[in-house]
Amino acid sequence: MNLLVLKDICYIKDLVIDPIETSLRDVASMRGDLILPYSFSLLTTYSPKKIVVGLDAVDVCVQEFELKAGMKVLIVTDKGVQEAGIVKRITDELEDADVSFDVYDGVEADPKLSNAEEVAEKARGGNYDAVIGLGGGSSMDMAKVASLSVSNPGRIEVYVGVDTVKHKGLPLYCIPTTAGTGSEVTRVAVVTVGKVKRAIVSSKIVPDVALVDPKLTVSMPPKVTVGSGLDALSHAVEAILSLDANPMTIALGLEAVRLISENLRVAYYDGRNVEARYHMSLAATMAGLSFNGPGLVHGHSIAQTFGPLYGVPHGLSCAMTLPYIMEFYLPAVPERLAWIAEAMGEDVYGLPLREAGRLAVEAVYELCVELDVPSLKDVGVEKERIPEIAELCVREWVRPNSPRLLTREDAIKILERMWEGEL
Ligand SMILES: [Fe+2]
Repeated sequence: MNLLVLKDICYIKDLVIDPIETSLRDVASMRGDLILPYSFSLLTTYSPKKIVVGLDAVDVCVQEFELKAGMKVLIVTDKGVQEAGIVKRITDELEDADVSFDVYDGVEADPKLSNAEEVAEKARGGNYDAVIGLGGGSSMDMAKVASLSVSNPGRIEVYVGVDTVKHKGLPLYCIPTTAGTGSEVTRVAVVTVGKVKRAIVSSKIVPDVALVDPKLTVSMPPKVTVGSGLDALSHAVEAILSLDANPMTIALGLEAVRLISENLRVAYYDGRNVEARYHMSLAATMAGLSFNGPGLVHGHSIAQTFGPLYGVPHGLSCAMTLPYIMEFYLPAVPERLAWIAEAMGEDVYGLPLREAGRLAVEAVYELCVELDVPSLKDVGVEKERIPEIAELCVREWVRPNSPRLLTREDAIKILERMWEGEL
């Protein structure tokens, strides 16, 4: 009985056996692998206290954020969200509750350090009680910067890296207007330093409340729907393949994969379909939760290397990479790819693991082709620059959680296939 429970709550990680846990070892040998305990904290200290999901959820933002009359909040957003009238929906609620506010709508796409410093200056000078991040990943990431900047002095550059933020900042509430980044539930804020994407990674910047209103995503144009949706798919898939995954994060990831494969096409062809939008929003948030602890692997590494160099939006660059990196990982983790294939509705019954896993690679590739995801050649990458991009990728992005080491030569091979656009 004990063994069954342990088998259910433990997960294979690496080649270490706790000599005391003989029962664990028995289970390990039964599964032909080794088992370590994992921590529930991956889904608690790295996650918001509360996640609210629902149509018209913005109508209850004041209650859900526990804002009171007399408080003052800073809304961090971008001009597109402002022009779409979404900011006004929030500010109307705040006015009704006698909560005062300032709006910073200067967030840029793929914000640079200078943008982060500007947000920090605004937050430090306003005597705010809380920060609301409203928009796509960039706006929510800059809201994280605004929040932390009030309790952590100096230049924002100092906080780039893992666990460099010393103190929790202002209460932080995030409302996504796209379905992709998952930033509303993550401990990550991305900033562009020079031409390289860097991240502030800290449990101190996890939003206190994530409020997900799928109706806010209905006006997303098809291209943004695809880019953000495939970014979410990349998060889920890479989190499932990470060696630091555990059964809880894998469950979240697989459900996100299932929802995306069932709803992304509908959301792309008919953006007004609220049901598809609802499931895509849910999937993006679940995918965000799934990678919060396990982290991402080399799909994002490659994407975040060539993407900023050629001005390719983040989600699209991840989509361009995803099937190829899945193919690269297939020999190392065929069973996990087989789970993904099953979640995508592929018939894996009776197939050898590797064949079943191959179906996931092909299903993702076909999805990308149908949704007009371009090749490296299509976005203007010069073939002769591939070795240089590969070199930069392996130098900048070490991924110890990756199921397979990525050498410069591996990266060149992958990039060459991405350039042709053929699996
Ligand atoms: Fe991403």
